[in-house]
Amino acid sequence: MRLEKYLVECGVASRRKIKKAVREGRATINGIIEYNDGADVYEGDIITFDGVVPEKKVLKYYIMNKLKGYVTAMSDENKKTVVELLPDFVDKKCVFPVGRLDRDTEGLLLFTSDGDLSHTIAHPDNELEKTYYVELIRDISEEDIKALETGVTLNTGYQALPGKVEYINARAINLTITEGKYHQVKKMLRAVYNKVVYLKRIKFCNLTLDGIEPGEVKEIKREDIII
Ligand code: URA
Repeated sequence: MRLEKYLVECGVASRRKIKKAVREGRATINGIIEYNDGADVYEGDIITFDGVVPEKKVLKYYIMNKLKGYVTAMSDENKKTVVELLPDFVDKKCVFPVGRLDRDTEGLLLFTSDGDLSHTIAHPDNELEKTYYVELIRDISEEDIKALETGVTLNTGYQALPGKVEYINARAINLTITEGKYHQVKKMLRAVYNKVVYLKRIKFCNLTLDGIEPGEVKEIKREDIII
C-alpha cells in the first residue's frame, strides 16, 4: 500500500495535508525519513507521522433516515440532535454527519469516521448529486420547472447551478441538485415564488433509503458509496 493511503486510513489528516507533510519529511518508514508519499508500505513496517506511530482507524459508514425535529449537530444546548437517533451499535465518539439537513428536513444523512471521504464529498468541484422529494404550498408551473432547470438566482444573489426536476404532481417534485448551500432547496423554490412545506432527501450519490425506515440507521461499506 502507498504511504499516503496508509496515513489517510489512519485518519492523521486529509490526503492533501498528508502529501504536503510527507514532502516536508514528517513521516518515517522503519526509522528512515520518507519524502515520497507514493513509497510502498509493507506488513510489519513501522511508520511514524510527526514522531508518533498512528493506529489504523476503523472506518465506519452509516445511512440514517433522519426524522423531522432533530438538528444536524453532534450536540446542542436545547434541541434534539441526530446523535440521539444513532443506535447503540454505533460508536458515537468516532462518527460525524457528512453535510447537514435542516431540523425540519427528513431523509438520507450519511455518517462516517472517514475524514477523507467527508472532505471529498464536501468539495464543491465534485458536484455530487442529491435528490430531494419536495412538497409545495402552491402549484408549480412549467416555467418554474424550466427556471429551476436553467439555474435560479437565490435571494442571497447566488446563481444556483441547474437542477433536474422530476414532476410528480402540481404540488410535488423530485429535485436533484449538485450543490449544498444553506437552505438551498428552500431558497431555489422561493426564487420561483413558491414555498417548501415538506422536504425529504431521498438519494445521495447512488445511495437511497431502500429498506431503511424513518428514524432507522443502517451500516454500509465504503465500496457501497460510488463517488
Ligand atoms: N435544502 C434545504 O433547503 N434544506 C435541507 O435540509 C437540505 C437542502
